[in-house]
Amino acid sequence: MSFEQVQGALLRWTTAIEAAAALGAELTLAQSGEAAPAEIRNALRGVVAAGGIDSVDDLTPQQQAILAGIVRLYLHQALDLLTEPGRAPGWSYTDPVILDGWGRASAMMPRALAAAMPQVGEVRSFLDVGAGVGLLAVAAAELWPQAEVVSIDTFEPALERARANLAQAGMTGRITLRDQDLADVDDADRYDLAWVPTFFIARPTLRQALPRLRRALRPGGWVALGRFQPPPDPLVAATSLLRTVRGGGSEMSAEEATDLLESAGFAAVGVAVAPGMPMQFVTGQRPA
Ligand SMILES: C[S@@+](CC[C@H](N)C(=O)[O-])C[C@H]1O[C@@H](n2cnc3c(N)ncnc32)[C@H](O)[C@@H]1O
Repeated sequence: MSFEQVQGALLRWTTAIEAAAALGAELTLAQSGEAAPAEIRNALRGVVAAGGIDSVDDLTPQQQAILAGIVRLYLHQALDLLTEPGRAPGWSYTDPVILDGWGRASAMMPRALAAAMPQVGEVRSFLDVGAGVGLLAVAAAELWPQAEVVSIDTFEPALERARANLAQAGMTGRITLRDQDLADVDDADRYDLAWVPTFFIARPTLRQALPRLRRALRPGGWVALGRFQPPPDPLVAATSLLRTVRGGGSEMSAEEATDLLESAGFAAVGVAVAPGMPMQFVTGQRPA
C-alpha cells in the first residue's frame, strides 16, 4: 500500500481524534462555566454540530462529567498504546485519568443492571468484581440502600484510590473492599447479584471462577456477565478488541458466555440488553 493511501486513512482517523477532543472541550467548558474566546467557542460548537450534536446544555452536570471523563480516558489510553505498544496484556494503568474515567463510566452499571434484570428484585447483597476505583460500588450502595456491597480487586493502585473514594462518599461502612482475585472468591450462599465485567477479566480466570461464583450466590441469586456489543463496523470491532486484549480482559460472544454459565451449573441463562449502552448482560441464576 502506498504512502498516500496510508496517509489518506490516517487523516480520516485524526479527524475522529480531534472531534472527540472538541466534544470533551465543549463539555469541560459547559461544566466549569469558564469563558473561552468567542471564535474558539463558535469553532468548537461547529465541530460538535457537524458531528450531529446540537448542544450539551441539556445534560445534567453528572452526565457531562461522565462523558468528559470518557473522552479523556480514551485519549489517555490511546496515548498509552502509542507510547508502550509492546507492553504485555493486563490491567496495569496507574494514570488517574484512565482509572477514574472507567470508574465514572462504570457507575452507570447498577442502574443498567436493575433496568435489564427486573427478575432480580430487591438486591440486599451485591458482589462487584473488579472494584477499580470503587465508583461502581458506591453507585450500587446508593441505588440499593439496604444492600451490603462487596467489591474485589487485586490491583493496589486502583484499590488505593477506591479506599479514598469510599471514605469521601461516606461508604466505608456499607462497602467491603477486598484485595481478592475473582478466582479466589470463597463466599457461600451470600449474594443476590454478582457483576462480572468479562472485558476486564482473563478468560481462564473466568472459566475457573464461575463454579465458585455460583456457590457465592444465595440459591436463586443471579450473575450478570457484561460484554461489549459494538456496532457492526469492522473498525469499531477491531479497536474494541485491541482495548480489551491490552487491558487483560476477554472479548466474548453471547454464545460463549452462555456456554460458560451453563457449564458452570447456572440455570435460566439468557441475554439482556443494557438500555442506552453498547453492552449486553449474559445472565444466569443459581438453582434454588
Ligand atoms: C476498569 S476497572 C473497573 C472499573 C470499576 N468498576 C470502577 O468503579 O472503578 C477493572 C478492574 O478489574 C480488575 N480485575 C481484573 N481481573 C481481575 C480479577 N481476576 N479479579 C479481581 N479483579 C480483577 C482490574 O485490576 C481493574 O482494577
